[in-house]
Amino acid sequence: MIKGGVPLRGEVRISGAKNAALPLMAAALLTDEPCVIRNVPDLSDVKFMGQILQSLGATVKFNGGEVRIHAHKIKSVGDYELIRRMRGSICIAGPLLGRLHRARVSLPGGCIIGARPINLHLKGFAALGAAISIEGGYVNALAKKLAGAEVFLGGRAGSTVLGTANVMMAAALADGITTIDSAACEPEVVDLAHFLNAMGAKVSGAGSPTITITGVKKLHGAEHDVIPDRIEAATYAIAAAATNGEVTLRGVRADHLHAVLDKLREAGVKVERQGSNLTVRRNGKLKPVDITTLPYSGFPTDVQAQMMVLMALTPGISIITERIFEARFMHVSELARLGADIEIEGPSAIVKGGRPLSGAPVMASDLRASAALVIAGLAARGRTEVKRIYHLDRGYENIDGKLRRLGARIERVEET
Ligand code: EPZ
Repeated sequence: MIKGGVPLRGEVRISGAKNAALPLMAAALLTDEPCVIRNVPDLSDVKFMGQILQSLGATVKFNGGEVRIHAHKIKSVGDYELIRRMRGSICIAGPLLGRLHRARVSLPGGCIIGARPINLHLKGFAALGAAISIEGGYVNALAKKLAGAEVFLGGRAGSTVLGTANVMMAAALADGITTIDSAACEPEVVDLAHFLNAMGAKVSGAGSPTITITGVKKLHGAEHDVIPDRIEAATYAIAAAATNGEVTLRGVRADHLHAVLDKLREAGVKVERQGSNLTVRRNGKLKPVDITTLPYSGFPTDVQAQMMVLMALTPGISIITERIFEARFMHVSELARLGADIEIEGPSAIVKGGRPLSGAPVMASDLRASAALVIAGLAARGRTEVKRIYHLDRGYENIDGKLRRLGARIERVEET
């Protein structure tokens, strides 16, 4: 329940990145020695990944923001139901194939934002010498031995983040050298490469479209701190601008947010950097900007919905084009309930901004859409009720607590 109209003010600490933590936890499967990962966000997806690793035989202990994983003896078949429920869990396939030369995981299937095939992941595994088969809802990857290879991972929408992560992890224990071309350059991929190298792997070029992995015989345990969540940071930055407030984000990697900060500045938002802190506030009237989502370092698709809210509040026309996922406009009809004027034309949404928003009951459909509805509720007059907030808890640590500390009138209530 949100009572809107209050400018957010104060400081908020940015948590560790969900989309880094998930593949990092999976990477611990590559060694029979213990691994410790710190700055892990307290999220349902993270807990879920812990359950999946346990279903494979690993011990997983969470202690505050730290998780200790020991995959001493593991099996290659994951729990069908568990894996099916979280797409991100596909990134256990690479480590299982790398270490055991076999992986049997349930096909992730599509989700509300798009079909989300894994053909590129499987193409990478096959290039390393794995035989791939799909039966009974499972994907099987089996290899007598894995051999380094050259693989192009570019697809319909460019590179694949978890596909790059999976092939990188499988190749870490292969014989010889693997080169991934059209690799994803996301900071989460770089964070994973750092952890793999700390485990004794030989990965170079992460962060560029060409990654080279020289396979090693064995990996050892290691410790690692998860990078800050650039998507959470972008969400709070936009909430500050949307409510005409002033918020300092603490513990941010501004160098991971160039595309977002550039568009915010273009829209008339003031962003000041002080070391690992960013202070965000409006700088006079907002201006409409056009956005096209692209692979990193372009504008992130995971910030598209939140930015659409800011443009709905901004007088003028802005065009938001979604190039990564084919069905990521579920939030548009819900924003219309709050009075936003947005039309969808193919991959683009035409936002006629400037109408004041007024509170209403709305339904969250996916993680980032739900964050957008919260921002809209904070900026709207009156009360907004956001339902199905389990979507939020998948990717935002204690979002209502953090917002309350910034002065928001928001409370979590049991749904009747
Ligand atoms: C990661 O998903 C993130 N999830 C997503 O964040 C994020 O939206 C996405 O990258 C893009 O940045 C995690 O890291 C857990 P992709 P991923 O493979 O790796 C197509 C969030 O809100 N594709 O880079 O699954 C695919 O359909 C989530 O936190 C193929 O065609 O995304 C999509 O159109 C949502 N074949 C595009 O590539 C493949 O084999 C990019 O997908 C793989 C992908």
